[in-house]
Amino acid sequence: MDAREMKIKAAEAALAHVEDGMRLGIGTGSTAEEFVRLLAEKVAGGLRVEGVPTSERTARLCLELGVPLKSLDELPELDLTIDGADEVDGRLRLIKGGGGALLREKIVACASRRMIVIADESKVVETLGAFKLPIEVNPFGLVATRIAIEKLATRMGLSGAIDLRASGDGTFTTDGGHYILDASFGRIPDADALARNLNDIPGVVEHGLFINIASLAVIAGPAGARTLT
Ligand code: 5RP
Repeated sequence: MDAREMKIKAAEAALAHVEDGMRLGIGTGSTAEEFVRLLAEKVAGGLRVEGVPTSERTARLCLELGVPLKSLDELPELDLTIDGADEVDGRLRLIKGGGGALLREKIVACASRRMIVIADESKVVETLGAFKLPIEVNPFGLVATRIAIEKLATRMGLSGAIDLRASGDGTFTTDGGHYILDASFGRIPDADALARNLNDIPGVVEHGLFINIASLAVIAGPAGARTLT
């Protein structure tokens, strides 16, 4: 099974949790896009759902494929969010934001009764942190915010480069108009404390540590899909 087939397997398993009439949060990234494609087929076959997209990119794909969309203000309480992840550990803690949509992803997931993560085995880790931690920051005071993050990391015994995310034509800008700092901390022994402390830095809009948010992960590997709870 190649990487795309595993993403489809995970998306298929998650689709089994979608019921008629549900209000769905719809994630961002290549795995979430496989889910959107499968969902669109079900919608074409008569399934009635309303989706809240977690990015402009996901919104465009949903509109193209005919998945009905609403804004989160129209549907502020959702039944289920299905989204990918960059890392997932055994306690369903996640690193997200590789695709730059972490702020909307977290807002949408937290407005949902349940969040199901879809991923392949390569995303499962013992300790979070091999993937660079995305930290969404306000462009105002970028240098000061980066220094505050560096000082926090030092206090917590973490080190590593903190790089401003670039895109082809300059600085990457999120759907919300913010920048992303990618922190190469390596192993993060206390992700819960790091998450809390990052939230205390004013220039940090949000970070990619999703703690106590996911309720289930569907992990696809060569032998099929398994769940983490
Ligand atoms: C986007 C995300 C994605 O869910 C994450 O990057 C995983 O993406 P992919 O399924 O393409 O590996 O957090 O902000």
